[in-house]
Amino acid sequence: MRSRTRRLANRVLAGAEEVGAEVDLIDLADLQIAPCTACESCSLDGKCIFADDFPAAYDRMLDADGLVLASPVYIDNVSGQMKVFIDRLADAIHCQTFAGKYGCSVATTQVSGGDAVVGYLNHVLNYLGVTTVGGMSVALDENPEALDRAEPAAHDLGRQLLLAIDKQPRYPEQEAEMAENREYFAGIVQANRDWRPEEYERWVREGWIRED
Ligand SMILES: Cc1cc2nc3c(=O)[nH]c(=O)nc-3n(C[C@H](O)[C@H](O)[C@H](O)COP(=O)(O)O)c2cc1C
Repeated sequence: MRSRTRRLANRVLAGAEEVGAEVDLIDLADLQIAPCTACESCSLDGKCIFADDFPAAYDRMLDADGLVLASPVYIDNVSGQMKVFIDRLADAIHCQTFAGKYGCSVATTQVSGGDAVVGYLNHVLNYLGVTTVGGMSVALDENPEALDRAEPAAHDLGRQLLLAIDKQPRYPEQEAEMAENREYFAGIVQANRDWRPEEYERWVREGWIRED
C-alpha cells in the first residue's frame, strides 16, 4: 500500500543505515493488534490477555538501541492504529523496559497537526524512558515534491539518532522529566512487588527504587 508516512520513516532509517545502523521497520498496517481493555492483566505478569501481533513487535523494539515512531496525522492526532499500539505499551511505560534507548519521531499530514503529532510521539518516547534527539513533520499539501524536499532532513535525523546511540549525549531537561515520571512509576512497581519481584529487583539495581 502507498504510504507517505512509511516513505518518510524509511528515509530516516536510510540515514541511520548510511552511517552503519542495522534497521528494522515494523509497519502497524501489516499487524493485527487489539485495543487495550484496561483489564490490568499485564500489571500481574507483564503479559496481555490478547495473543496477537503485539508481543513480536514489542520484542523487536526491545532488541533495538534506537526507536523511530512515525504516524500520519488523523484528525489532529496520531492514527488509530498508532494509538492502539501506544496504549498496549502501558506496561512498558510503567516498568521502563525501553529506558536508555534513544529515539525520534516523524509525521506526515495534508496541512496541519504535524508538529503536534511529532511532539506527542516524542512525549510517548520520553514516557517510555527513551531520550529523543529530534523530530520532523512533512505537510504534503497536494505537493508531490514535499517528501523529496524533506529527504535531506529525514536522512540527517536518522544520522543524529545513530550518533546519539554511539555517543550517549545527555539531555538534562528530558532526564528531569523522566526522573519525575519514574518516581510515580516506582509506586506501581513497588505495589506489584509480590507478584513481579524481578521487576522490583531490576528497579533497585537501576537505582530507581532505594531499598530502606
Ligand atoms: C482519517 C484521516 C484523517 C486525516 N486528518 C487530517 C487532519 O486532521 N489534518 C490534515 O492536515 N491532514 C489529515 N489527513 C491527511 C493525512 O494526514 C495525510 O494524507 C498523510 O500524509 C497520510 O499518510 P499516509 O500516506 O502514510 O497514509 C487525514 C487523513 C485521513 C485518512
